[in-house]
Amino acid sequence: MGIRERIRETGESDLTDVLHIHASAFGQQEEAELVSALLADPSAQPALSLIALTDAGPVGHILFSAARLTESEIPYPFLIMAPLAVVPEAQGRGIGGELIATAVRHLTKAGVALVFVLGYPQYYSRHQFEPAAKFGLAAPYPIAPEHTDAWMVRALRPGVLGSVRGTVMCADALNKPEYWCE
Ligand SMILES: CC(C)(COP(=O)(O)OP(=O)(O)OC[C@H]1O[C@@H](n2cnc3c(N)ncnc32)[C@H](O)[C@@H]1OP(=O)(O)O)[C@@H](O)C(=O)NCCC(=O)NCCS
Repeated sequence: MGIRERIRETGESDLTDVLHIHASAFGQQEEAELVSALLADPSAQPALSLIALTDAGPVGHILFSAARLTESEIPYPFLIMAPLAVVPEAQGRGIGGELIATAVRHLTKAGVALVFVLGYPQYYSRHQFEPAAKFGLAAPYPIAPEHTDAWMVRALRPGVLGSVRGTVMCADALNKPEYWCE
């Protein structure tokens, strides 16, 4: 494309652009409202919010929020990736993949152990996510049996995946059953 995107952490002044990216990518307001709520939610910390910009303007955004395991005191942070969006006119250029890769580098350095996502298995398996249920890690709400593989995990720290089990608890803003029906 000849257009190089730049990825950086968001600040408060990016909020309008971030919400626009989600409304445009998803064609509805629900994900933008979720992003607003998560960015204002103390229980979502530690969080990571990255925006992708091109010369043409803001084109992508990814958000991670805190998670923990029921009945387990784990000394490493777990995060949930939700949502990820790239505006329709910039899709298919690798921007979604770059947002994931940049976030993973950042989170690995920060000592995050596991990252979870509920999403398209064919897309996220390209980015080293694998079904979480086989490791005994359940989603905050039951996932319909036909979509079990959509609840996925990626290990950023060796030795953690397989050594912990339980149900993942998400931030308050994400803790609504309607966000968990894939
Ligand atoms: C999903 C999304 C973030 C991908 O961003 P992107 O910048 O277009 O992704 P990339 O360029 O890194 O990757 C594109 C590849 O992923 C594939 N892909 C995109 N959406 C996919 C999906 N739902 N299932 C499987 N593969 C998908 C594309 O076909 C393309 O494949 P190719 O490389 O073989 O041509 C973007 O399409 C989007 O914002 N969609 C609407 C919102 C959404 O669904 N968000 C994800 C919620 S889980």
